[in-house]
Amino acid sequence: MCVIVSGVWVLSIFALTVISNGILSYGAQHHSKSSDIFHHHHNVFEEPASRSGPYFDISASRNVTALLGKTTYLNCRVKNLGNKTQVALQVSWVRHRDIHLLTIGRYTYTSDQRFRAIHNVHSDDWTLQIKFPQLRDSGIYECQVSTTPHMSHFVYLNVVEPTTEILGGPDLYIDHGSTINLTCIVLNSPEPPAYIFWNHNDAIISYDSSRGGVSVVTEKGDSTTSFLLVQHAKPSDSGQYTCNPSNAQPKSITVHVLNGEYPAAMQHGGQAKQPRFYSLLLCLCLLLY
Ligand SMILES: *[C@@H]1O[C@H](CO)[C@@H](O)[C@H](O)[C@H]1NC(C)=O
Ligand SMILES: *[C@@H]1O[C@H](CO)[C@@H](O)[C@H](O)[C@H]1NC(C)=O
Ligand SMILES: *[C@@H]1O[C@H](CO)[C@@H](O)[C@H](O)[C@H]1NC(C)=O
Repeated sequence: MCVIVSGVWVLSIFALTVISNGILSYGAQHHSKSSDIFHHHHNVFEEPASRSGPYFDISASRNVTALLGKTTYLNCRVKNLGNKTQVALQVSWVRHRDIHLLTIGRYTYTSDQRFRAIHNVHSDDWTLQIKFPQLRDSGIYECQVSTTPHMSHFVYLNVVEPTTEILGGPDLYIDHGSTINLTCIVLNSPEPPAYIFWNHNDAIISYDSSRGGVSVVTEKGDSTTSFLLVQHAKPSDSGQYTCNPSNAQPKSITVHVLNGEYPAAMQHGGQAKQPRFYSLLLCLCLLLY
């Protein structure tokens, strides 16, 4: 009798500990900014029966920004899924947009071959692999655990397409002898491009060519910027310059190196001097006429 009573006592202390832990992590959830996640997590701690049941490890089941066309992975970490119960709990991925069931457990359910379920035995991770992600794949994906009622965690996939920009385009007028400074920016790239090539009239610019005075400075960060510097610009440096990032569309700019006949009108590279240039030509034509 005494043994039973103390057993119950120990059990209730254990339950209290679990409950307070639950409240603690529940409180921590509150700081995670996501009302959805918060809301769904709420269910888990509501029922005493599921105290020892599964829960999401939110920190390992985060939103994902994917690069267009580059294989990406949505992870759902479910702790304490357990095998104590006779009924095996399943973890599924559902695309929210059309309530399309993508995976159940380790099985890929959808006929869209780009999706694949990945799960290693003894792992808490239930991963959805998406090959060749498209912009339209952006949206909410639901990781579901087949409890009653089921538990959900929402993961947002954002598929982005990097874009390329060259400052000062589409035409740049540069004085003979001054430095051509082209600035190419790759925006919206979750990871920096592996490389950025520059072309001049369809030939890759070589930095050790006999031309000399050509250099490139690349700054990697939230956006990647590549500066192409061509010193002592000559008329032969005129033409189309193309910035070719490894992971984004190329972008071009047309550089006009003025042969020094109109130095006063064409100061400083980087400014479009087109109107003045043409009015000057017009004046010359009128004079000649
Ligand atoms: C995921 O993204 C959604 C939508 O942008 C946002 O509401 C939510 O807070 C994000 N969740 C996390 C854990 O950052
Ligand atoms: C749960 O599964 C593991 C591995 O399959 C096994 O070693 C363990 O004995 C199981 N536990 C229970 C309570 O069934
Ligand atoms: C080239 O132009 C960019 C943008 O205007 C500027 O930040 C950079 O300092 C310039 N580089 C040189 C060497 O002039």
